[in-house]
Amino acid sequence: MRLDNLLAQEKVSRKAMKQALLKGEILVDGCPARSLAQNIDTGLQELLFQDRIIRCYEHTYLMLHKPAGVVTANKDKELQTVMDLLPKHLQSEQLYAIGRLDRDTTGLLLLTDNGPLGFQLLHPKYHVDKTYQVEVNGPLSSNHIQQFKDGIIFLDGTVCKPAQLEILSSSLGSSKATITISEGKFHQVKKMFLSVGVKVTSLKRTHFGPWGLDDNLQEGDFRPLNSQELANIREFLRKSG
Ligand code: URA
Repeated sequence: MRLDNLLAQEKVSRKAMKQALLKGEILVDGCPARSLAQNIDTGLQELLFQDRIIRCYEHTYLMLHKPAGVVTANKDKELQTVMDLLPKHLQSEQLYAIGRLDRDTTGLLLLTDNGPLGFQLLHPKYHVDKTYQVEVNGPLSSNHIQQFKDGIIFLDGTVCKPAQLEILSSSLGSSKATITISEGKFHQVKKMFLSVGVKVTSLKRTHFGPWGLDDNLQEGDFRPLNSQELANIREFLRKSG
């Protein structure tokens, strides 16, 4: 939650916040806050306002193994959504998925009610890497590795940032690879492979930044982030301010 919203909940006036910020009287994990727009989770970080500990909101962070056939949305008139996979007590208007996966894509999806976090994690400024396991309907070669490294250009002229392609197996009719990208363009991975002449037949996200899909999570299952994964959120919040 934004620092100013947190303090407003504690009935601190806007003027008092601004003054305290300038005087360095707002400390986040011991460091002076940089801005009132700073994203803070008092469940993960210690917030001191004029020597008083503010502990008013703990956000929810979940890891979901998205199955195919489910849409990344909070509501849909016809289709099952990722929210429908959660028990009723966890479903809330505020909870949302960080980054969309296509209906037929499986794998790691993080869900949170920390509004600004998704925006920050998806912002190009932070270059959060996403890794996918991919199967395509044709051969892959070292030529492709170089093309992905140089930056794929879509058929419409859009230029992608360099991506890392690792070929796991290759044959005339089917190949397996992992691909790591730092952007989140619409249907990006599918379009990148189409641009080099092959079609994606299976796509699974295994990593999003420092968070990796838990091998023990079956498709459709979810769990709260563990302490190490929460520490990664805390670290990201610290760095991104
Ligand atoms: N790229 C795609 O093409 N689809 C996804 O679901 C995610 C990344």
